Amino acid sequence: MTSTESLQSEFDHTVASDQRVEPRDWMPDGYRRTLIRQIAQHAHSEIIGMQPEGAWLASAPSLRRKAILMAKVQDEAGHGLYLYSAAETLGVDRGELTAKLISGAQKYSSIFNYPSLSFADVGVIGWLVDGAAICNQVPLCRSSFGPYARAMVRVCKEESFHQRQGFELLMTMMRGTVEQREMVQDAVNRWWWPALMMFGPPDDKSPNSAQSMQWRIKRHTNDELRQRFVDMSVPQAETLGVTFPDPELKWNEQRQHHDFGTPDWDEFARIISGDGPCNKERIAVRRAADDEGTWVREAATAFAQRGEGAR
Ligand SMILES: [Fe+2]
Ligand SMILES: [Fe+2]
Repeated sequence: MTSTESLQSEFDHTVASDQRVEPRDWMPDGYRRTLIRQIAQHAHSEIIGMQPEGAWLASAPSLRRKAILMAKVQDEAGHGLYLYSAAETLGVDRGELTAKLISGAQKYSSIFNYPSLSFADVGVIGWLVDGAAICNQVPLCRSSFGPYARAMVRVCKEESFHQRQGFELLMTMMRGTVEQREMVQDAVNRWWWPALMMFGPPDDKSPNSAQSMQWRIKRHTNDELRQRFVDMSVPQAETLGVTFPDPELKWNEQRQHHDFGTPDWDEFARIISGDGPCNKERIAVRRAADDEGTWVREAATAFAQRGEGAR
């Protein structure tokens, strides 16, 4: 065996026996590239995802709701930072990743390009968007790349708080006035289909999935996770007293799963390519934050260098 072959077989064995690949281990270039792309996209989603809810911080209806929302939005910033750190262990630089986000060279989850129109959206984002994120991320705790898997353990604990605060907010609104109940249903109607799109395109249109599953970066296909999310959400909607905007949604006794309609994949493709309701605004806000933070980064770097010199 050549040395590359023996490294490859060691890597294959590590993955096949469910051990973790660590940053200093040899890994195939494709594995490294796939992870950088996936972790960066995940980190960007956490950071851009602060915006739709962050928009309601200044007009939260009570001090309690404001405190909860602030904690939640701050958690998302933390998730972004863990994930950028995990990506950096693969040899990329966070500044470089941010530049790629701003230039559009790297993507983030399409869901954050929809506007949050009422405070009920805060609840529905927590319930459905964080709920879908949990379905996606719990299996990632067993991802083959150590730093990613470990980051996910902490992230998932916080996501479960996010989902509960959303559900609790909606329960409170559903016990309120007719107008409040209508706000909740309206928000559910707007977010349901985009939430289903969070699992990515159908399996037969997801070319990288098979390789990612073989590398055990991913553990389940997009369609499996989408099904799990639908099955989980239906009884929760019943408890809340809301419906999902899908006439095809019904229990299938034979499959022991819910049948459901097809998301508008053309809309998904449009939004991913940059033409969603809020794409420009989301990137403009991120760009402004990056520009405004330049002096802080420069000062921190200069301070660190001086500190090292002094010691
Ligand atoms: Fe998060
Ligand atoms: Fe979250």
